[in-house]
Amino acid sequence: MKPIRVGLLGFGTVGRGTYEILRRNQEEIQRRAGRGIEIVKIAVRDAARARTVVGAGIEVTDSPEQLVGSAGIDIVVELIGGCDPARALVLEAIGNHKHVVTANKALLAVHGNEIFAAAHRVGVMVAFEGAVAGGIPIIKALREGLTANRIEWIAGIINGTSNFILSQMRATGASFESVLEQAQALGYAEADPRFDIDGVDAAHKLTILCSIAFGVPIRFEAAYMEGIGKLAAADIRYAEQLGYRIKLLGITKRTSHGVELRVHPTLVPMQRLLASVEGPMNAVLVKGDAVGTTLYYGPGAGAEPTASAVVADLVDVTRTHTADPDNRVPHLAFQPDALVNLPWLGIEDTVTSYYFRMRVADRPGVLADIARILADHRISIDAMFQREPSEGENQTDIILLTHEALERDVNAALGRIETLPTVLAPVIRIRQEELL
Ligand code: NDP
Ligand code: HSE
Repeated sequence: MKPIRVGLLGFGTVGRGTYEILRRNQEEIQRRAGRGIEIVKIAVRDAARARTVVGAGIEVTDSPEQLVGSAGIDIVVELIGGCDPARALVLEAIGNHKHVVTANKALLAVHGNEIFAAAHRVGVMVAFEGAVAGGIPIIKALREGLTANRIEWIAGIINGTSNFILSQMRATGASFESVLEQAQALGYAEADPRFDIDGVDAAHKLTILCSIAFGVPIRFEAAYMEGIGKLAAADIRYAEQLGYRIKLLGITKRTSHGVELRVHPTLVPMQRLLASVEGPMNAVLVKGDAVGTTLYYGPGAGAEPTASAVVADLVDVTRTHTADPDNRVPHLAFQPDALVNLPWLGIEDTVTSYYFRMRVADRPGVLADIARILADHRISIDAMFQREPSEGENQTDIILLTHEALERDVNAALGRIETLPTVLAPVIRIRQEELL
């Protein structure tokens, strides 16, 4: 049988990784897919540069529009990133009855409903394993392996760059800026690294996971995002003293009131496997009602780990493109007409435990005032310690861990605590999850 013909939009970190894997492992891939998978055309901005790398027989163009319209292409792989021009190109490819593979989580989190609807209308596949957690086959696990389960929650380290930054800063004491530069040089970071640091990239991925887990439409606007930019070394240290490590987690839960969708730094108990996930590695915990808790771990970013997922999608499409579209695995795990709208919970409706750090005057009665206000707002203290003030110092840090509380109550309590004359700075608050 003739090879299936692939057009590659973008030849950067992941595009080159995809090219390299297809070249190196072509024989085994063909044995698995049942036919060859061949890149026939590549579109980039700087065609001359790409031409110096690719072998003869692959056409390189600077016109992505020409590639998606090309009659000689069966599958378009979109690895440009961002929404513009990626959205228009993907829709055009679908309109031309081409299957699409993409690792572009920003595109799917923002325009996924439109793209999947267009693909469904014409009966083509849009595969996106590389869009979430790099090389970890989490989409396949959720959509297929766990399909018997009612998924209760997902919690994951799903941004390699921010995990790399947190790990390196803790292990080597290196500055935020220098570690970010390393992450960029290694190809982990987004074109705009604020997406990584501010939690936006993790929220894009979490939005996709949420939809697949609960059978709801993709709704990026519902995501709460807080990144790692404001984390202080003191909090990382105090958390360790209390037996926790701080990780940027994406958490989505189905509660009796609705769906939570949130990304923020989180205290994770040191004994959980998630706490030991370091560097650019990702890990996703999924709680299903039948299977219990399962954990998926692996490289979350980088050329070949991500390309591994892209090529797996190419093999999937190659195997199934002749199947009746109605008998394929649905894009979002649930049949398109069976997606349901559930209420979305804002961060104020979230119930979780908290870490507070309070800079206070070192004098009698301070703690009693704070404890009374917390009690007034139904917040119960689980643990606390006070840093020993240095000789002659008249202020100190109080560190508190709470039991579960409603974020709205926490906001009200902290608002009052911050008006106390003995509380000298805004209270630092980090959410905490037991992940059981
Ligand atoms: P890069 O920035 O390394 O590469 C982007 C490529 O797209 C370049 O070859 C660039 O061309 C090309 N390109 C950009 N704009 C256009 C355009 N308008 N027309 C034609 N070509 C264009 O990105 P990555 O490979 O890192 O990322 C690609 C996608 O994969 C993104 O969606 C990203 O979020 C996602 N992803 C990345 C991961 C990673 O670890 N890097 C991991 C998981 C997903 P030129 O070279 O000529 O400038
Ligand atoms: N910038 C992303 C990350 C790439 O660091 O996780 C992988 O999606």
